[in-house]
Amino acid sequence: MSMTMNGTQLPDLTDPHTFVPGVPHEGFARIRELPGLHWQPTEVGTANGGFWAVTRFADILEVESNPALFSSQPGSAWPMSNLPIDPVLNPAYNNLMFMDPPRHSSVRRVAAAAFGPRVVKNFDPWVREIVVEILDHIETLTEFDYVLEVARTIPSYVIARVQGVPREDRQWIVDQTLAAFEGQNAGDLGVVTKVLEDTFTYYREKLVPGKLKNPEDDMTSVLIHAAERGEITEAEAYDFLNLLQAAGFETTHTLIGQSMRLILEDPDIADKTYRGIRELGADKVTEELLRIITPAMFMSRTATADTELAGQTIRKGDLLNLYFIAANRDPAVFDRPDEFDPWRTETASLTFGSGAHRCIGNALAKLELRILFEEMARRDFRLTLNGTPERGWSTFINQIRSLPVAHVDGRAA
Ligand code: HEM
Repeated sequence: MSMTMNGTQLPDLTDPHTFVPGVPHEGFARIRELPGLHWQPTEVGTANGGFWAVTRFADILEVESNPALFSSQPGSAWPMSNLPIDPVLNPAYNNLMFMDPPRHSSVRRVAAAAFGPRVVKNFDPWVREIVVEILDHIETLTEFDYVLEVARTIPSYVIARVQGVPREDRQWIVDQTLAAFEGQNAGDLGVVTKVLEDTFTYYREKLVPGKLKNPEDDMTSVLIHAAERGEITEAEAYDFLNLLQAAGFETTHTLIGQSMRLILEDPDIADKTYRGIRELGADKVTEELLRIITPAMFMSRTATADTELAGQTIRKGDLLNLYFIAANRDPAVFDRPDEFDPWRTETASLTFGSGAHRCIGNALAKLELRILFEEMARRDFRLTLNGTPERGWSTFINQIRSLPVAHVDGRAA
């Protein structure tokens, strides 16, 4: 769970146990204060027996601004790293997150416009419809698991709608997404592979033929027609469709679940959240929740040549894990970094990364949380903790698996 380096106790960033009680923020602070970069040994997913833990804000900006020197192709999320850069041998070859410019730019261009802030603003009515449907259901319950009923339901329904999955197939595709994540959590690659095969068969045999006949206002139509025009390959289109399902689900689920956990566990955060929404609007509060929670804790890059970063010699082939979760509390950038303060003026967090791969779905994720806050406020929706929250088993996502709650007024009783 931890290791000692030059007399300093440091967390083992490769061990899921480290993250089960909570994010090791103090350990990250100690790593950030060390000179140079901290080398975390691991045999999994690396060419050189470990990875550099990059924890300072400025260092991450530097790495992400130079994809030629710090590549995503051998893998952008350890242990999915040190993969062969080969269309046949690498299962992630057609995944946008595992590409470098110029290929990355041409594939990303096809979809990026569909997720810009101005386009996403128009998603408001149907996202609100989904949120209202879920809150209506919650009102019929007395005690429930907020993660199960709200946090993971909203993003999975939203992504199904973004993909253009017909309503009658919505639950099926949601169950596929959940099963893939469960398989991943349990380390059962057989389950993950089977789920992905079934999902791709569904895209190929049902979703795509329907959209080819009747294009609609959704990403499957956009991607498949871009493939027909030769702007991207068919494999890239399918992988993009699946990436949306993976990237847009667990991160947003974490944001929604951990936000409620913070509000229920800490009266000061609850007060600042509700006062902040009234005084500043939900957008500013959402930004601060995103910084404090940082759902995707890191992404990875591989050095393509010998170089230097933060005074540290990096060898060609070395893996770097960019700990956004640590950089978002870097005192060089954020005043009182561990304090939740929606009024703060330093707001440029690294929650969505930076540079060429910066999250495409950031405006959509923010919209989902904003609408949820607005609709809860409209109903005077007050919840209380009703058991012990359970964190996940992940070195990658700041996961929450269960959050037992009850209505303060016992509404459905
Ligand atoms: C709170 C919610 C979310 C968080 C914290 C999050 C975080 C991230 C991060 C850290 C990256 C990598 C950035 C980098 O390497 O610099 C990323 C990439 C990406 N995200 Fe998100 N994301 C969220 C929601 C979404 C949603 C809702 C969607 C889909 C609609 C989405 C789609 C993507 C895609 C497609 C990429 C790959 C972009 C590329 O490689 O060019 N994300 N996200």
